[in-house]
Amino acid sequence: MRNLLAGIALGVALVLAAALLFLTQGGMPVATRGGPLPLERFLASRALHHAMGRDARRPAPIPADGPNLVAGAKVYSANCQVCHGAPGEAQPSPIARGMFPRPPSLLAPGHGVADDPVGETYWKVKHGIRLTGMPGFEETLSEEELWQVSLLLREAEHLPGPVRAALR
Ligand code: HEC
Repeated sequence: MRNLLAGIALGVALVLAAALLFLTQGGMPVATRGGPLPLERFLASRALHHAMGRDARRPAPIPADGPNLVAGAKVYSANCQVCHGAPGEAQPSPIARGMFPRPPSLLAPGHGVADDPVGETYWKVKHGIRLTGMPGFEETLSEEELWQVSLLLREAEHLPGPVRAALR
């Protein structure tokens, strides 16, 4: 029994030592170029899913009407466009091109978060996504603005003309 415990302790110590060496001797990719670590995407998306929990199912407390979508478009142009792009933009901005992970295009048809529950988008915009470059806007946008920009992204596939105009 004592040998078994000593073996387990040695095994754990070796794994920790290997992890420490990996982190301190330059094995861990920290520059923005290069791909993800094995399992990185899977683990990050599971962790995010669990962190959002029931909050992600919250319905929007305001309607997706014209004035709210135009207000959401103004919030987007001022705070999000630099990373997530404008409608019809041929290339991502230099900032977006230099990031890892790359900020997804949120207004291009078929690429955004139009199919995500609006509460999930609201959670991500409010709290941000740690270690990705996605900022949390809890301290800089009002509750109303957070919902307005989240509704804009949900409706991104069929925005009315005046909302599109506000995005340009
Ligand atoms: C400095 C760059 C930057 C800015 C500014 C920024 N984002 Fe992001 N955003 C990112 C990155 C990078 C990701 C990808 C995170 C990941 O891969 O998990 C992201 C992810 C997201 C996602 C999740 C997309 C998905 O597929 O699940 C949403 C929604 C989002 N951002 C909305 C916004 C909104 C709304 C704003 C403005 C209020 C904004 N972002 C401003 C960089 C940015």
